[in-house]
Amino acid sequence: MHLQGIEKVTLTALDLESARQFYLDWGLSLKEEDANALLFESLNGAQVGVHASTDVQLPKGIEKDPTLREVTWCVSDAAALDHFRTQLSSLSSFEDHAEVIKCKDPSGLSLAIVLSQKKELHLTSALTNSWDQRQRINRPSPIYDKATPIEVGHIVLFVANLAESSAFYQNLLGFTLSDTYPNRGHFLRCTPNGGHHDLFLLQLPNQRVGLNHIAFTVRDLHEVFGGGMHMSRCGWKTELGPGKHPVSSAIFWYFHAPTGALVEYYSDEDELTPEWIAREITPGPTMFAEWAITGGIDGHTRRQIEAQAPSGQFMTDTPKK
Ligand SMILES: [Fe+2]
Repeated sequence: MHLQGIEKVTLTALDLESARQFYLDWGLSLKEEDANALLFESLNGAQVGVHASTDVQLPKGIEKDPTLREVTWCVSDAAALDHFRTQLSSLSSFEDHAEVIKCKDPSGLSLAIVLSQKKELHLTSALTNSWDQRQRINRPSPIYDKATPIEVGHIVLFVANLAESSAFYQNLLGFTLSDTYPNRGHFLRCTPNGGHHDLFLLQLPNQRVGLNHIAFTVRDLHEVFGGGMHMSRCGWKTELGPGKHPVSSAIFWYFHAPTGALVEYYSDEDELTPEWIAREITPGPTMFAEWAITGGIDGHTRRQIEAQAPSGQFMTDTPKK
């Protein structure tokens, strides 16, 4: 029995109007709103709830607002929900609300588990023409004006005790270890067959707990670029990207979000099976990003931030000195 992924993330914002605009620009659909809360959905129905940090009904945060207050994981059937009910029932933080079960992870972050309401999608993404595999015939590759994220793909958390948190997610919630930075970080996937990670736990030397980022899956690398340039045109600030992670192979782009920490567009991550053997990797800047652009690409000039837009008729039309 396994969790099937992230159903919902519940976040806080100090400025709800800014968060509203950010997630609309990000490409999510606004489904509900009132004076204190917003509810967005990705294409497959995964939800992003954004609440005013004054909302007293929310689970307690593990760090100062704005941040992540709760992660809702999903299962595909009632038998799986019962399995996790049994797994978690001995925890002092366990709550049984019939359709929803809840507990806190070792950092104190609220977790919920529900039956999935997410939709099966049939989307078309870019085909590639590599040397030995010609998939795109008589057809240009797509250009995206903006992104429309498919799902909430993974979250990354700072934890105080990596061994304890990782054991909790592996032993009680059935996660599989995909790769490790020994004593520093564990990449975990919730199903043995699946994308490289749904959860990445990181332990900092100062043992700070909190949110590092929330990642949204898009169709292909062209949508990472199109989405990122749209966010730049809208005035949102890049932390890092576009770039490529050597661990997971994903193409990424990170932005600062009004809901705390970072959000990421990513695509083309490694797909793993039970045959995959978790690697021990030494962390470092070149391990985080094989290559990356600091500060992003400007959506108007289509060049790295602060570079001059091309002035000649052609890109290579540089006046002779
Ligand atoms: Fe990520």
